[in-house]
Amino acid sequence: MRTRIIRIAPEDWADDGRLAEQLAPAAACLRQGGLVAFPTETVYGLGASAWDPEAARRIYAAKGRPQDNPLIVHVARSEQLLPLCRELPPLAQALFRRFAPGPFSCILPKSPKLPMTVTGGLDTVALRIPSHPVARRLLSLADLPVAAPSANRSGLPSPTEAQHVCRDLEGRVDYIIDAGSCDFGLESTVLDLSQPRQPRILRPGALSAEEVLDFLQNCPDFQAEAGWEQRLLEPGRQRPELGAGERPLAPGMKYRHYAPKKPLLLVESLAEAEAAIRLRLETEGAEQQAPLALYVAADWAEHLRRVLGTGLWARLRPVWTFAPEAEHREAAQKLFWALRSYDESPAQLLLVQALDERGLGLAYMNRLRKAASPQRDIQPETAVAAARDRGEMSL
Ligand code: TXA
Ligand code: MG
Repeated sequence: MRTRIIRIAPEDWADDGRLAEQLAPAAACLRQGGLVAFPTETVYGLGASAWDPEAARRIYAAKGRPQDNPLIVHVARSEQLLPLCRELPPLAQALFRRFAPGPFSCILPKSPKLPMTVTGGLDTVALRIPSHPVARRLLSLADLPVAAPSANRSGLPSPTEAQHVCRDLEGRVDYIIDAGSCDFGLESTVLDLSQPRQPRILRPGALSAEEVLDFLQNCPDFQAEAGWEQRLLEPGRQRPELGAGERPLAPGMKYRHYAPKKPLLLVESLAEAEAAIRLRLETEGAEQQAPLALYVAADWAEHLRRVLGTGLWARLRPVWTFAPEAEHREAAQKLFWALRSYDESPAQLLLVQALDERGLGLAYMNRLRKAASPQRDIQPETAVAAARDRGEMSL
């Protein structure tokens, strides 16, 4: 299949006529059951008509995605939500009024008319109204609800630039719309409202859990079950290694995800980072080894450069940094980009800074724990873990 690429310059985003002209072929393709990758404010999505079960099947095939992992359905306007679900309760309406358009997906009991292929066989559906102007224009031109998972090959980090989509899906989809980098760089927050008295964040994301919690605590339409606040965040904190008989609530969360092809190591403190670097670079024969890559806050990088000295520091390559912030926005925004850049670099191990779970730190850590999940052959990590157990890491 030949994939056509449509490039949209930022100055055209606000030009309705120009945007309509450029997006018309992709919108027509969606109406005919084709596959269109498009930018959203979170990550790039791979869209197809949500009314067409065959089109949904094509999404699973193009991504290599397991068929039991449901898709999020995207619409341009809130009036398009009701036909997709059994009903739109006042609490859901209030949440959409507050958080849409934006990085918020809400799970509700599905309309019987919506094909089961879209919802992975579940009787609920995740709904979202994206805020990216190109996504909104495409959705309104197609005049359809569009099922769209992230536009990556299953298991790899989500795409935050059109180039990532091209690498994973060129030749497997009809159109790729290129509108530059995504603002948030992490996927939407998935809130399960199928039990309206017990809402749960199944996947922490670009809308912070604090904002959701604060809204629910003050929402007159919310009749809460006792203890709901503790349970709200339970699924998103679930560790990747589930115990026997334990079941993840979002089917997608049971698969290894967001992972680069090479190993990564999460480091919790500067002392641990320094020890891991020394362990790796100062052992015998280490000069011949591939370089070690780093993804840390700018202040960590500065400290490590000082304590390691120029010799060792020069052997850390590439070094990617983000701004140290309480809400961790930039760390989250550049995470998938860094994981993909690492795969393309000669480095054979990536050290990544663990963050506290405030703001976007919760979603950042959720993705990293899955990416660093020990179902993989990660010898360097095992070596560091063993050293840590022997007490060699406690500087
Ligand atoms: O930001 C986003 O949400 C992006 C952009 C493209 O909108 N989309 C995205 O979709 O991340 P995807 O398919 O990569 O992730 C959807 C997640 C999966 O973990 C899936 O299992 C869960 O949402 N999900 C979707 N529908 C569900 C449902 N009915 N019940 C439980 N989990 C659901
Ligand atoms: Mg995904």
